[in-house]
Amino acid sequence: MTRVDAALDDAVASADALADDASRHLVAAGGKRFRPLLTLLAGELGDGTRPELVDAAVVVELTQVASLYHDDVMDSAPVRRGAPAAHTVWGNSVAILVGDLLFARASALVAGLGPEAVVLQSRTFERMCLGQLHETLGPREGEDPVEHYLQVLSDKTASLLATSARLGAMFGGCPPEVVDAVAAYGEKVGVAFQLADDVLDISSTGDESGKTPGTDLREHVPTMPVLLLRQRVERGQGTDADAALVARLDGDLSDDEALAAVVADLRSHDVLAETRALAARRARDAAAELAPLPDGPVKDALADLAEALADRTV
Ligand code: IPE
Ligand code: IPE
Ligand code: MG
Ligand code: MG
Repeated sequence: MTRVDAALDDAVASADALADDASRHLVAAGGKRFRPLLTLLAGELGDGTRPELVDAAVVVELTQVASLYHDDVMDSAPVRRGAPAAHTVWGNSVAILVGDLLFARASALVAGLGPEAVVLQSRTFERMCLGQLHETLGPREGEDPVEHYLQVLSDKTASLLATSARLGAMFGGCPPEVVDAVAAYGEKVGVAFQLADDVLDISSTGDESGKTPGTDLREHVPTMPVLLLRQRVERGQGTDADAALVARLDGDLSDDEALAAVVADLRSHDVLAETRALAARRARDAAAELAPLPDGPVKDALADLAEALADRTV
């Protein structure tokens, strides 16, 4: 990971002073580096010393960071990785362009890994865009909102985790059944990861997550706890208080007090526990995908990681 961080630093550098500042911003702010970690860990299933693994890890983190520049514009998020979101510092246009610039850097780097990796990265990028697009457009007439949303989570988030794991196993030189198993694990863990993120938007204080709680609620970005609440009310299974809460969620949440009040009500609501349980189930399904892997510390670590993710606080 130390080598990955050094390589990331090089990958975001620009000769142009404005581009340099803005494109270093999010990498310098930190983050969990979860995707590169997954790549390196999966690589340890084979020959973990191969230099391609570091490049692959940088590619997936660059893809992640680029998508965060864009996501914070779309979600009007004020804070990211504990730092002011780029669009609040330089404006939307710069944030979008820097995101594009970092995608371009990821493309250049992945080209060095060969055509299979290039195709993988581009298909992943496409799925992330489609996930975000479907999140923005919402379910079609007659489509189940929860099913639709699970597909959004797979595409916008799980796709990159699956690819992170797949590239690691591939460049570690693992046999195809191991490569496919860690990718299937990444896909399921990714959905659990994003469900846990939806919980964090409501339950976190912001100190640990480095993001502002209630951001999704304020911007009316759909999240699983809110979808479950809506579903209850629509099916006539909700209380009067549930119906009132849905009405407040649909209303104007620009006022800090109004937002804090809905966050507090959701925090103590059992749709939050229900979302955690959904995340835990996906995490268990993810761990089951590890069966074809050889027993050892990597398999154990991946299983532990899945378990820890479902109720993560960062
Ligand atoms: C944020 O990802 C975007 C989601 C898919 C939830 P992370 O929670 O991994 O954010 P960083 O990379 O640690 O900042
Ligand atoms: C982000 O989803 C997914 C991608 C970055 C593609 P969210 O909008 O839920 O993530 P956060 O909460 O802002 O990190
Ligand atoms: Mg978003
Ligand atoms: Mg967001």
